[in-house]
Amino acid sequence: MRAFRSMSAAAILLCGLSAASLSIDTLRAHEAGSSLSLERIWAIPPDAGHGKTLYQLHCRPCHGSHGWGDGPRAIPALAGQREKYLIAQLVHFAEGRRSGQGMHDTMQQPDLNWPQAIRDLAAFLSTAPRSPGPEYSGDPDLSVGRRLYKAACKDCHGPSAEGTAAGVPALGGQQYRYLTEQLDNFSAEHRDAANPRLPPAVAMASLSTRDVEDIANYLAHLSYLTADNAQ
Ligand code: HEC
Ligand code: HEC
Repeated sequence: MRAFRSMSAAAILLCGLSAASLSIDTLRAHEAGSSLSLERIWAIPPDAGHGKTLYQLHCRPCHGSHGWGDGPRAIPALAGQREKYLIAQLVHFAEGRRSGQGMHDTMQQPDLNWPQAIRDLAAFLSTAPRSPGPEYSGDPDLSVGRRLYKAACKDCHGPSAEGTAAGVPALGGQQYRYLTEQLDNFSAEHRDAANPRLPPAVAMASLSTRDVEDIANYLAHLSYLTADNAQ
């Protein structure tokens, strides 16, 4: 019964999705006109050492000394995440287009709310060593999550959920509770900066709570954010 339900969900997802229809260009278009535009920030030469200093000063209390997040508090791992994705999210927080406990206030601080700081934080975090042990749900059966992921998510997020250099986020090795919260946010269209026409929002609308838990558990078990720490 459960397998049947999950397969139906996957079939529904596949009907509505086209991997080719989405790229970071969608986000770029969304950001045109912003003083913190992705293009402008990306063009700045990064100083990862400065990013590390800023990280230790402002981010460590929540995201942890290694950027590995905090499972019970649903705080995401950042170490090894895709660089362009990190830049885009920091811009969204800074501009109040994505909400998140403490994130907007943090990014309002004068030494963080400018292009060089965002560039440097992303450069440091994307090359930092990945978390060796994210939180997961404890259900040993990963087969349903794996099947749903491969059917509905893999084309964009990659075979190992490693994301892409163009800015699709890595999901493998992310904290379980953070993933379920974000998937719920997408389904409720509460992820403020996320364009509701983006496929994640469409996809999540078709997933049951149990499907979301299964996918998140599978992802939390996958080996870690980006496979090679590349951009
Ligand atoms: C008060 C705690 C707190 C502080 C301080 C904090 N964060 Fe966060 N951060 C969070 C929470 C909670 C989330 C999840 C937000 C959500 O629910 O969408 C988050 C999300 C993020 C994300 C999005 C990750 C993703 O996968 O989409 C990035 C990037 C991020 N934080 C970077 C930083 C950086 C860089 C700093 C320091 C300059 C920082 N954060 C400081 C709590 C914090
Ligand atoms: C067509 C491409 C595409 C497909 C298919 C897709 N995603 Fe995504 N996903 C994205 C993009 C792009 C983002 C970044 C959105 C943003 O900037 O807020 C994203 C964001 C996410 C996030 C937030 C990551 C974070 O660190 O906060 C999660 C979780 C996620 N997707 C899970 C999934 C799952 C699970 C599926 C399959 C059921 C899926 N996605 C299908 C492109 C896709």
